[in-house]
Amino acid sequence: MISCSDLEGKVAVVTGGAGILSGALIDGLVANGVKIGLLGRRLDALSEVADRVRENGGESICLVADVLDRSALEDARAEVLSKWGKIDILINAAGGNMAGATIMPDGSFFDIDLKALQGVIDLNFMGSVVPSVVFGESMSKKGQGNIIHISSMSASRPMTRVVGYSAAKAGIDNLTKWMAVEFANKYGEGMRVNAIAPGFFLTKQNERLLTEEDGSLTSRGKTIVDHTPMGRFGQPDELIGTLLWLCSDASKFVTGTTIPVDGGFSAFSGV
Ligand SMILES: NC(=O)c1ccc[n+]([C@@H]2O[C@H](COP(=O)([O-])OP(=O)(O)OC[C@H]3O[C@@H](n4cnc5c(N)ncnc54)[C@H](O)[C@@H]3O)[C@@H](O)[C@H]2O)c1
Repeated sequence: MISCSDLEGKVAVVTGGAGILSGALIDGLVANGVKIGLLGRRLDALSEVADRVRENGGESICLVADVLDRSALEDARAEVLSKWGKIDILINAAGGNMAGATIMPDGSFFDIDLKALQGVIDLNFMGSVVPSVVFGESMSKKGQGNIIHISSMSASRPMTRVVGYSAAKAGIDNLTKWMAVEFANKYGEGMRVNAIAPGFFLTKQNERLLTEEDGSLTSRGKTIVDHTPMGRFGQPDELIGTLLWLCSDASKFVTGTTIPVDGGFSAFSGV
């Protein structure tokens, strides 16, 4: 495991704490001595992650809250502060596309389910804003904190079908810059905001879009691999190095950036 000694003893809140990518990020933080507030909607799923953290010699607490529920997040913040007295890092990993908001090949933009579209935008944009408001406030009081948003390849060049997801993730890149400027101006250089833009990683949310039931690639999955110079999907643990760098003093002059971890996808013109 990659090591980063200045993270020992820090406290991180990870939203979407029972997710696949967040699982790898949590393992990387735990291996470096970071205590974790695991935030998500289901206690049973969070408890499984907490068991793994304990087996790996780490410390965590489960925080049951929806990322869109300010008052539940405030309760979660109180719980973290009462246990550990501080919050150093917030990772906004809750998110993902939603089936109802995806335009299928035989569907039309003009028939889109507006409620589902609003839902995907709420989760993928407001779902990072609201935790940043709640947990960022306690960071601002000491002028020290590190917020990491999770963007996507579809932010800078939107992908077909996922209209709301793409727009919301584009909003995340803009929000990352806006918050970085605001926080550095008002709370000093100890308050940093950055984002990671993962390329394509096989997870539950995209499994059916990218692979057939027998595990072979769909034509969309094949297009993605063909447009990834490294010729494969990413492994979740390949996000850890970038996360640790962004959370540590190794990147202390870096704020307002979105770092792609994508096997070269965003660099490739397709030709
Ligand atoms: N998988 C990929 O290839 C990929 C690529 C780019 C970006 N991302 C982004 O990475 C992040 C993590 O994705 P993942 O692939 O690990 O997905 P995942 O579905 O495994 O994890 C997302 C987690 O968020 C939780 N969640 C959903 N709605 C929530 C809510 N309202 N409140 C609290 N928790 C909620 C889910 O229960 C789940 O545990 C997401 O923001 C996703 O958009 C993923």
